[in-house]
Amino acid sequence: MNPFGLLLSVYFIRLAVAGNGEINPLITEEKLLWVGGGAGEVHTYRIPLLTFTTRGSLLAFAEGRKTSSGDMEAKFIALRRSTDRGATWSPTSYIVNDGIHTDGSNLGSIVVDEETGALLLIYSLCFYRYHCSPPSTMLIESLDDGLTWSAPRNLSVQLGVKSFIPGPGFGIQKRYPPAKGRLVVCGHGTIVGDGVFCILSDDHGRTWRNGAALKSIPYNQPKQKQDFNPDECQPVELQNGSIAIFVRNQNNYHCHCRMVVRSLDGGETLPVEELKFDQTLVDPVVAAGALQKDGVLYFSNPANSQNRVNMTLRWSLTDGENWNNEVLQIWQGPSGYSSLTSLKGDNPEDKKHIFIIYEKGQKDYCETVSFAKIHLYGGI
Ligand SMILES: *[C@@H]1O[C@H](CO)[C@@H](O)[C@H](O)[C@H]1NC(C)=O
Ligand SMILES: *[C@@H]1O[C@H](CO)[C@@H](O)[C@H](O)[C@H]1NC(C)=O
Ligand SMILES: *[C@@H]1O[C@H](CO)[C@@H](O)[C@H](O)[C@H]1NC(C)=O
Repeated sequence: MNPFGLLLSVYFIRLAVAGNGEINPLITEEKLLWVGGGAGEVHTYRIPLLTFTTRGSLLAFAEGRKTSSGDMEAKFIALRRSTDRGATWSPTSYIVNDGIHTDGSNLGSIVVDEETGALLLIYSLCFYRYHCSPPSTMLIESLDDGLTWSAPRNLSVQLGVKSFIPGPGFGIQKRYPPAKGRLVVCGHGTIVGDGVFCILSDDHGRTWRNGAALKSIPYNQPKQKQDFNPDECQPVELQNGSIAIFVRNQNNYHCHCRMVVRSLDGGETLPVEELKFDQTLVDPVVAAGALQKDGVLYFSNPANSQNRVNMTLRWSLTDGENWNNEVLQIWQGPSGYSSLTSLKGDNPEDKKHIFIIYEKGQKDYCETVSFAKIHLYGGI
């Protein structure tokens, strides 16, 4: 066989494998969505969220911290939309403005109600009780694919007053029983009263109640190194209807790695028997992204036990039992929070891609928020 024929047959064998759905991801497009520090009113953009909509758009959100990079800042909530799978983006619109409120809005979870098409953005106000009181959980809603948003609604009236920051990431709508159709939003408490807490709605976001809790130990007391301190989290629904929540391990309890806890009852409880420490998901204490698409579980974080560098995508064909040995390194330099999504339409393109948004930096901190389109079968 001549060398060209050999090459050609190797190529076709690899194509055949790809046709069988072997994941071999490749970044095919990347865009900086926000850069802080420039002209304008925003010092730093942080805490990016990304979602699909039922009309096939992508929506990116971030906190625009007005005068410093700190968490306790006056902020805008910034939004950009893409209606062409991430190729072009609308200019930034500021959908929430804290004014000069020093302990302003903290993102947050974006939830898509796939039955009604409504988009619900839930965030925290006065989380740290810094020159303000009490903390409140707020919701804004869009019924037109993110073009316009309602005035904020105060969910603390129904949930009670508590410091609670949803996500950061997305909330889910249950697609499989138990509790099909339910909205499940999980987040965390304050440092002493930390833990994972989920809030639930069975009527498309009209009323909310408190669901599962996984509290830190010792609860409501200052923590030591290596205490059990579950923090920022991302829930995903698995195809058997259970919910896996990927949790920031704030005090490195047991490992410098991610905690994963499951709810088998639609977010009502998080039994300790369903808690595990995933040694493969090495983590420097950070928020991370997770996604379930067509039975494959994806996970993104800065894969380094000490520093926020090395943004990496992993995938699992076994619901997180184990992870593929190969990974996709998205960015070797400074990388922070990340969030994943995918489009759910009938278009074959939507089967082949997932999307990530993440905090990205050049030297030693993350001065930008970047979006990337990932072709799942592109690295062939
Ligand atoms: C939200 O509701 C709670 C409970 O009624 C109240 O204490 C708090 O002041 C409200 N927050 C805002 C921002 O209106
Ligand atoms: C669903 O799958 C997960 C992951 O394999 C497993 O831990 C869980 O027990 C299963 N749940 C149910 C209700 O079968
Ligand atoms: C980046 O992540 C990969 C995959 O886990 C790992 O092999 C590599 O050592 C990491 N590099 C750094 C600098 O963390």
